[in-house]
Amino acid sequence: GDTRKIRASLLDWYDENQRDLPWRRRATTKSGNGKDNKQEEDEKRAYGVWVSEVMLQQTRVQTVIDYYNRWMQKWPTLHHLSQASLEEVNEMWAGLGYYRRARFLLEGARMIVAGGSKFPNTVSALRKVPGIGDYTAGAIASIAFKQVVPVVDGNVVRVLARLKAISANPKDKHTVKNFWKLAAQLVDPSRPGDFNQSLMELGATLCTPLNPSCTTCPVSSQCRALGNSTNDESVMVTDY
Ligand code: ADE
Repeated sequence: GDTRKIRASLLDWYDENQRDLPWRRRATTKSGNGKDNKQEEDEKRAYGVWVSEVMLQQTRVQTVIDYYNRWMQKWPTLHHLSQASLEEVNEMWAGLGYYRRARFLLEGARMIVAGGSKFPNTVSALRKVPGIGDYTAGAIASIAFKQVVPVVDGNVVRVLARLKAISANPKDKHTVKNFWKLAAQLVDPSRPGDFNQSLMELGATLCTPLNPSCTTCPVSSQCRALGNSTNDESVMVTDY
């Protein structure tokens, strides 16, 4: 049905069109024995996803790239970060704003390392780390650990609102809940991380608040807002 088509179209589009961003590159690891190596790779990925998603929360992709590269050069692993000082971390963060985010990364890294260095790999375990909310937990769990869980940010709300022609009051508490529910039904079970990123990527590049590029959109034929010509109204969620 519609869900299968939407998943396949979004994933195909993402495979062809995703931006080449440093945190999307596969971590290269030294050769090791199968399973341990795989887990080590996932955890490295989780650390990179965590840092990038926290930086991306209030800052544009183009700005984040340089900050991310500098951060990973200085603290390539969670263990390196756990030994940094708050002053170093704040200095590295200078210009990004909301310094609380940097402190949370440091505190979170120290907490995980103190607990034996196993990176939490489920949403509920991730939510216990300081500074990790639903959004970041979903991003890390799906992108790094292939958990079939949704991720909802402002871009995803707009994309889903248009796709399903949902006009909802963004101030209503239930609105957010409903979008998480909808995203949970839609997430592709075989490639959850890529699927979640395809929604975010679509919202950032084509399904923009104003003048969306519906003619090049991979899911235009499934889009109910385009079908009823409300696609250019941002379906009431632009100020979400
Ligand atoms: N914005 C925030 N996180 C993102 C991601 N992982 N992919 C695309 N856009 C994003």
